[in-house]
Amino acid sequence: MRPEQLKDYVDENTICVVPTLGVTFTGVYEPVSEICKELDKIQDQTGLDIPVHVDAASGGFVAPFLHPELLWDFRLDRVKSINASGHKFGLAPLGVGWVIWRDQKELPSDLVFNVDYLGGNMPTFALNFSRPGGQIVIQYYNFMRLGWVGYRGIQSACAENAQYLAEKLAGLPELDILYDGNGALPCVCYRLKHPEKAHYSLYDLSERVRMSGWQIASYPLPADMHDTVVQRIMVRHGVSHDAVDQLFLDIRKALNYLDKNNIKWSEAGPSFSHG
Ligand SMILES: Cc1ncc(COP(=O)(O)O)c(C=O)c1O
Repeated sequence: MRPEQLKDYVDENTICVVPTLGVTFTGVYEPVSEICKELDKIQDQTGLDIPVHVDAASGGFVAPFLHPELLWDFRLDRVKSINASGHKFGLAPLGVGWVIWRDQKELPSDLVFNVDYLGGNMPTFALNFSRPGGQIVIQYYNFMRLGWVGYRGIQSACAENAQYLAEKLAGLPELDILYDGNGALPCVCYRLKHPEKAHYSLYDLSERVRMSGWQIASYPLPADMHDTVVQRIMVRHGVSHDAVDQLFLDIRKALNYLDKNNIKWSEAGPSFSHG
């Protein structure tokens, strides 16, 4: 999403604009602050006051520690709500996600159920009522145990390992790095440098590295770049320097094999789960 595109998409029916802090496909941040400025301009011209929700599923637990100067959150007046996945860079177990509102008036009271049958009054926003609390306890433990300094240390190590991987992959003649782990999520995104000349695709590379135990999804970019197939490697806590070295060797081995052998495994591409 680019600020200059907004005027073609928003009108009086627009509930909100949702930039993503850490785009799933590439790992880059969408420019939240510039998007807000463009919406200010649109308000001046049309009177439409369009709020912003930031999908910070991954970036919400990265930007505050690695890019604290970046304006993307409630420091911007237009940002009314934010979601962040505790189970991604929040380092909590699977199943915990967060949404926060700028203030209470941004969450319409008719979306909140007030339940009294357990005694007292319990406001709940969830669709179902009984839920496990374990992930929340562990998220809380991580906050207390690691603190800001601890989260910064872990996310910095992830970013360094992602940048290290990007540097190594950039040395392979077959690949073209689209995002090198600098400035946004700790990840690497790349495509084939000459897909039109290669007799294999990234889907074939996915198959090949899977034989070494790595699941690296290949997928086309969204509209307008649908012809570009990319792979994205997310570096999270636990992906060590040694693991990055091993991964690089396995990718290089797979590419060498594909270069030398005229075999095409998959046209449409396998489907892997993501996370
Ligand atoms: C940008 C973005 N938004 C939302 C989600 C969904 O988050 P969750 O798995 O916490 O529901 C994901 C990834 O899964 C994502 O990358």
